[in-house]
Amino acid sequence: MTASRTDTPEPTRLITSPQHAADLLHAGRLVAFGTETVYGLGADATNAQAVAGIYAAKGRPSFNPLICHFWSAETAFQHVQPNAVAEKLAAKFWPGPLTLVLPRRASSPVSQLAGAGLPTLAVRVPAHPVAQEMLRLAGVPIAAPSANRSGRISPTAAAHVLADLGGRVAAVLESGPCAVGLESTVVDLSGSTSMLLRPGGITREALEDAIGPLAFAAAGATPIAPGMLASHYAPSLPVRLNAAAPGPGEAYLAFGIVPPGVLSFQLSATQNLTEAAANLFGALHWLDAQGAARGLAAIAAAPIPLTGLGLAINDRLARAAAPRG
Ligand code: TXA
Ligand code: MG
Repeated sequence: MTASRTDTPEPTRLITSPQHAADLLHAGRLVAFGTETVYGLGADATNAQAVAGIYAAKGRPSFNPLICHFWSAETAFQHVQPNAVAEKLAAKFWPGPLTLVLPRRASSPVSQLAGAGLPTLAVRVPAHPVAQEMLRLAGVPIAAPSANRSGRISPTAAAHVLADLGGRVAAVLESGPCAVGLESTVVDLSGSTSMLLRPGGITREALEDAIGPLAFAAAGATPIAPGMLASHYAPSLPVRLNAAAPGPGEAYLAFGIVPPGVLSFQLSATQNLTEAAANLFGALHWLDAQGAARGLAAIAAAPIPLTGLGLAINDRLARAAAPRG
């Protein structure tokens, strides 16, 4: 077996060895693995056929550029050209939930498909120890979008991946629950101004403390990060935003106050945004399944402040609530 096979169903193995995962990746297979943000659907980024398998497994409508994962900043910077801002952000936030978009080096063997033919590459060094070990053993850049089918909720546990992609990937590397629970923050440093493309696990405030003002390409505006589809992270039940209380027939995504007698998931009793971020996708998975089983019509989501990680939480909720395309 030299290439990933996603055209025919295959049993997906739950594995625990980073070396086993690295071996499968070397063989061109798809392996989902945990990071501190969400589970990623990994393939050897230098193997175009393996990368094509990612799009097939996800059912992605188009070839969006993928993030390349590395175990160190040094290895990441062998593939992209860092500027002074990139060096500063890498020193401060890597390993961690930050992705940098930088000019690709001509010498990089990353496949054009992984980078969607762009002159830039998105690179990141995850903080999760299991991911770090797997990436070090793999020794090649690992392209990995979130390990969910296109348009579905991002996975924050191995069980979510098995439920959504079982039969479509070779293995899931058991890595425990994801501590951050939201995808990485994506910053484009390839132009003359630094741009926040996607809010995520590192807050805008923390970035601005380090490098000064950052322009924000707001979600819903012209999608500068290709693949920033409006409808994303979608549960099967419709989502109603900024709901101070649930209406009849609605389940409730609570942030502080849990209404009595209603199917609810508490994101954070103390209104802690870090705790809420870590719980968000698991809460949507759970409310969706439980709500549908009880014949509920929708999920109402409590208002979340737009500060700190609240920016990324609101971004994901807005996508979950967007009209389905
Ligand atoms: O936390 C994360 O970032 C997770 C884990 C697995 O690392 N990965 C993830 O990947 O969320 P994905 O494919 O779902 O999102 C990648 C984002 C997309 O919005 C994509 O458009 C943007 O990064 N992106 C990737 N390469 C880019 C590039 N060269 N220029 C601009 N945006 C890029
Ligand atoms: Mg995703």
